[in-house]
Amino acid sequence: MKAVIFDLDGVITDTAHYHFLAWQKLAQSQDVHFDEAFNENLKGIDRMGSLELILAGASRSYSDAEKLALADSKNAHYKTLIAEMSPADLLPGAVAALDWCRAQGLKVGLASVSKNAFTVLESLGITDKFDYVVDAATIARGKPDPEIFLRAASELGVDPADCVGVEDAAAGVTAIKAAGMFAIGVGQPATLWQADTVIPGLEQFKNMMETLCKTGASS
Ligand code: G6P
Ligand code: MG
Repeated sequence: MKAVIFDLDGVITDTAHYHFLAWQKLAQSQDVHFDEAFNENLKGIDRMGSLELILAGASRSYSDAEKLALADSKNAHYKTLIAEMSPADLLPGAVAALDWCRAQGLKVGLASVSKNAFTVLESLGITDKFDYVVDAATIARGKPDPEIFLRAASELGVDPADCVGVEDAAAGVTAIKAAGMFAIGVGQPATLWQADTVIPGLEQFKNMMETLCKTGASS
């Protein structure tokens, strides 16, 4: 194992909830039913892909211009929700997990399809804890496609088979496995059944990694 590639939203910070609130408002404005269960399908899915899934439940079709305007309005709302973020918004165990990787000599990457990722990392004060952060604007295919994890591995100079991916979304776990990496799910085993192992939060990351190192994890 030579590198760990983290997702951001829902793994390092609870922006997953802010995405939920912003999509919920947009869905309500279009009279589309939206709840936590439906939101689970949107986790890890890029902005336009998420919008398409929501609008599939609408009673009419939308032009490309309308879709862009709706995506922009969701993002504007999301940006107001994340505007006040600070290091206090880091999830428990996140900094310790990143620092543990660095102390072990592992490369640390970030693979988030969020175009707000750089802003969020700055607000959290953890930008310098990553050796490489994928710029979502340069990714052609969002999760569950493996492109973003493969890009991170390539830029870190590590073979995908020597990488561990860490994800809270089913689509993200699918992407990690399709990239040929070992997948750690963060959340519920029932949702993240494709993961090689699941932990409730990053507070359990160090113990999990130490166990994996001892037993010789492979993807
Ligand atoms: C992450 C989140 C998704 C979000 C996507 C795009 O993958 O899990 O819920 O839709 O990023 O985020 P953005 O900030 O670019 O709209
Ligand atoms: Mg996520």
